[in-house]
Amino acid sequence: MDEPTTTGNEKAPLLKGVQQSKFIAFCRRHKRIVIPVAVMILLLPLLGLIALKTRHAHAMNWTSPVVYPSPQGYGAGNWSAAYLRARAMVGNMSLEEMNNITLGVVDTTSGCVGVSGSAPQHGFPGLCFHDAGNGVRNTDGVNAYASGLHIGASWNATLAYERAQYMGAEFKRKGVNVALGPVLGPIGRIAEGGRNFEAFAADPYLDGILGAQSVIGLQESVIASIKHFVAYEQETNRNPIANNGNPISSTSANLDDETMHELYLWPFQDLVHAGAGCAMCSYNRINNTYACENSKAMNGLLKGELNFQGFVVSDWAGQHSGLPSADAGLDMAMPTTGYWNERQLEKAVNSGALNQSRLVDMATRIVATYYQFGQDRALPLGIGMPPNLLLPHNYTDAKDPASKSSLLQQAIEGHVLVKNINGVLPLKQPKVLSIFGVLFPQSWEAIGLGTQQSIGIASNAPVQNPPEVQNGTLIVGGGSGSNTPAYISSPYDAIQSRAYDDGTAIFFDFVSTNPTVVSSSDACLVFINEYSSEVWDRPGLADPDSDTLVNNVASACNNTIVVIHNAGIRLVDAWVDSPNVTAVIFAHLPGQDAGRAIASILYGDVGPSGRLPYTVARRSSDYGSLLGPCQADGSLSPQCDFTEGVNVDYRGFLARNTTPRYEFGYGLTYSSFNYANLQTNINATTTPGDTVTPVYTNGTTNDNINNTAIGNGGLLSLFESVGTITASISNTGSVAAAEVAQLYLLIPAATSNSSNPRTRVLRGFEKVLIQPNETAQVAFNLRMKDVSTWNVTRQAWIVPSGEFGVYVGKSVLDTPLTGSFTV
Ligand code: BGC
Repeated sequence: MDEPTTTGNEKAPLLKGVQQSKFIAFCRRHKRIVIPVAVMILLLPLLGLIALKTRHAHAMNWTSPVVYPSPQGYGAGNWSAAYLRARAMVGNMSLEEMNNITLGVVDTTSGCVGVSGSAPQHGFPGLCFHDAGNGVRNTDGVNAYASGLHIGASWNATLAYERAQYMGAEFKRKGVNVALGPVLGPIGRIAEGGRNFEAFAADPYLDGILGAQSVIGLQESVIASIKHFVAYEQETNRNPIANNGNPISSTSANLDDETMHELYLWPFQDLVHAGAGCAMCSYNRINNTYACENSKAMNGLLKGELNFQGFVVSDWAGQHSGLPSADAGLDMAMPTTGYWNERQLEKAVNSGALNQSRLVDMATRIVATYYQFGQDRALPLGIGMPPNLLLPHNYTDAKDPASKSSLLQQAIEGHVLVKNINGVLPLKQPKVLSIFGVLFPQSWEAIGLGTQQSIGIASNAPVQNPPEVQNGTLIVGGGSGSNTPAYISSPYDAIQSRAYDDGTAIFFDFVSTNPTVVSSSDACLVFINEYSSEVWDRPGLADPDSDTLVNNVASACNNTIVVIHNAGIRLVDAWVDSPNVTAVIFAHLPGQDAGRAIASILYGDVGPSGRLPYTVARRSSDYGSLLGPCQADGSLSPQCDFTEGVNVDYRGFLARNTTPRYEFGYGLTYSSFNYANLQTNINATTTPGDTVTPVYTNGTTNDNINNTAIGNGGLLSLFESVGTITASISNTGSVAAAEVAQLYLLIPAATSNSSNPRTRVLRGFEKVLIQPNETAQVAFNLRMKDVSTWNVTRQAWIVPSGEFGVYVGKSVLDTPLTGSFTV
């Protein structure tokens, strides 16, 4: 039979005649199945449309309010003299000169990671910027300090200050004017966050206290650039990706006002109060607006509410617009700019597109900060920073011999002992020791950036298969948070020297994952590491090869002691319950004295005194949605909703009622302590509902200058004391040891719901060294800030009324003393 033909205009039927009747018969027979399927097929496009609309709506839900104009710096508090001098200098500058000092310039004569423009006629030489929060990066003649996370684990504010003091002096001797640290964001919202090791702790209070001391220490020599402002919590999609003309934006951190204040902004406020001179806006978007052009963040929060008097610099290549970024409060673009480099700011002032007062303010803030921290008396710009270490250069030794004991102490105090069965530690003159894993010296940063990292930086794309382990002792993390050691004291060197003293025989294998174990071993030490770096988020929280090594050694050695050099959270459940794993230490990132420090703890010269500044879960899934980064999932505008509010890390575990393996604040030592005698002496009063004026309404009220209640850090009353909580702690063991007493409060508040309940929060800590059988008093001073919550309606911090729960003890979950006070 001839097939009917179709003419040019006719459409061929979907099904031909015979097939049609067969199809109809089939449909009749199977109508129960066919009808729903047909309905679904018909509905699919509709569902697709709804999905698209929802996605769109979801992005649109999170918008950042506009706050104009940018508040002008005016010399609040002890900044007044610097502002007078700055005004005098800037008053003589042309618009072109002002424009010129707001941008980074190419400088081939120094190794500074950024150099700002100069105004030579006025004696302003520009500024040298250099990483990072953990020591002078990528050069010679400097020390490698313990990383931020390691200092967080030390819970020692004095040590944080000392470290910054020595580090700042090194920056100064190198001719660096601005040290790009300390880091407060990422705070550690995401367990696998690549840069969590650069900040101190997954808690805003601890970050604020240690960060403020770091600012004070650094700024005795140079300007500190607190970073990354703000809500920068992941590396994945941190920068825009070109994507063949269809650019994918940086991730948008979508968060509400309360979460912003009580979590992410919190530590920055402490550091601005401590006098920070520079702040770096971050790569991410905040509620869909880039941080470096986000007027709510820079004008509203930083310069308005916190009354920041210094200048805002962009993260490197984090500027994405010209005038919008200037109007939003950005004062300097780094390391170069395509937006301001052709006198665009000057021209915009001349055309009326930019208010002249904004450009004057940008220049004045920069010059005032230069004067405020004595940079007019600094060494020539970048003098000790050779552009290329491989070419002949003058060697500048920036190290102060007096820093040695502090470096060692920093390295020691960040170690956290989490398991110690039957007192296997400290070691007691072992006859035979077997050692395995990665514990020889290696300077990662000195060798250069890892290939993966260079690729990642170049392409801006998320890195595939980033490494979890590096060969050799991990003393720092990677990227701009790393630093170059003057030397490395490796665990192997340090243990060998102890073996010499004790006559111990050492057997080692640094290669195999299934090493042979000498049966006479008194103990087997296994050193593993967990690497992390800027540019990528970690692929997991425990690398399988290291777990295999530990399990293999433990199966052959009944006294297996595991030391983990970890640049972030590291899970241990693959082996920690094995009876043969007798002791475990989180050694974090101790800097160049890693070996000396671990040996002094293993051999009991000192007791371990670190406590976890984050939560170690039993399994990855216990972190829930906060395990890994948000993914773009094909979107050109990746969205990351911070729906957990303030409940990150331990607060999330409390809120979800999930029991961790090792909780925030946990850590053992070689002694034991008894807590007693809790006393609360608080006289805070509830903030009256009708008398509160907002701390800063918006940019239109540029009136901080007329408000004596406002100073550096914002409302000064927030920093006033509302009383103390005291307790006594006795050392009930037989050796001297340090205890970290911690205070947690459960703050009564209106905003609490079942999915995001308010939990206890850290509000005080004190580290005390106590001799055996002695008792020490600890006193936690509470500031108004510490008993306040952010009220989004009133746009003010308020002290809520009701009963405040008080918990004092050894960790967030182990609080032998409980009480309350009522406001
Ligand atoms: C990092 C900053 C760093 C800057 C300069 C950026 O990639 O995010 O933390 O200070 O580079 O090295």
